[in-house]
Amino acid sequence: MRFDIITLFPELFAPLLTSGITRRAYESGLVDVRLWNPRDHAEGNYRRVDDRTFGGGPGMVMLAEPLFHCLTAIRADRQDLAPTPLVLFSPIGQTLNHKAVAQWSDSAGAVLLCGRYEGVDQRFIDQYVGQQISLGDFVLSGGEIAAMALLDAVARLQPGVLNDEGSHQLDSFNPALDGLLDTPHYTRPEVWQGHAVPTALTSGHHARIERWRREQSLHLTAMHRPELLVQARLAGKLSREDETFLKEDQHASPP
Ligand SMILES: C[S@@+](CC[C@H](N)C(=O)[O-])C[C@H]1O[C@@H](n2cnc3c(N)ncnc32)[C@H](O)[C@@H]1O
Repeated sequence: MRFDIITLFPELFAPLLTSGITRRAYESGLVDVRLWNPRDHAEGNYRRVDDRTFGGGPGMVMLAEPLFHCLTAIRADRQDLAPTPLVLFSPIGQTLNHKAVAQWSDSAGAVLLCGRYEGVDQRFIDQYVGQQISLGDFVLSGGEIAAMALLDAVARLQPGVLNDEGSHQLDSFNPALDGLLDTPHYTRPEVWQGHAVPTALTSGHHARIERWRREQSLHLTAMHRPELLVQARLAGKLSREDETFLKEDQHASPP
């Protein structure tokens, strides 16, 4: 899978590509990342990539022409049979979630455009952008952090990237967890500041541990994301034992 990233700040990606899980995915070639600066495709002595907004008002807008030349260079370099999708990070877009990340992790990749300033000339968006992705209902200074969030989430789903193969399957939102939230985790010491680890986890009894984890997932999901519980129920993922637990769980409010 290959992600070509159009950014005015390619240096922001260095920590992502040189540390942790994302470094492993990048160095193994499982997630190929190429950085492209539109400034390298801009004309004139100043290699201008932005200009004032028509109609007046504060802020600058990213010029369409350098972005077009940059995209043309990427497409020539990728030599894909079909044009690779161009994704723009924008507050307008669909909010990123696990389902979208899982789809991207199964794809051949994409060209990711990181906006800056007030955004990108709308004519470039209309002509070339296929999809817009948002990180949430807030405004970032640029699309780079959103691109890094997508790359990180996609990298950890690649087979062989995590130390413990399959551990991501037990993370929140995953089908193996029926789309519920993850259980709480504890490590040593067994007692910390007078608080002991739940006895089920130190019982050594596999079935009891599994049941405790399931109930914690159900409890946390009911408390924090009840709509996920509704989805799991509609998909027939909740057992009779799960439903009995939810009815009796005093601290959650099952939907
Ligand atoms: C300062 S923002 C522009 C905000 C734009 N004028 C607006 O109000 O929607 C600059 C760039 O940051 C990125 N960005 C800002 N917020 C984002 C978000 N919530 N999700 C993804 N990208 C975002 C986009 O690429 C955007 O073009």
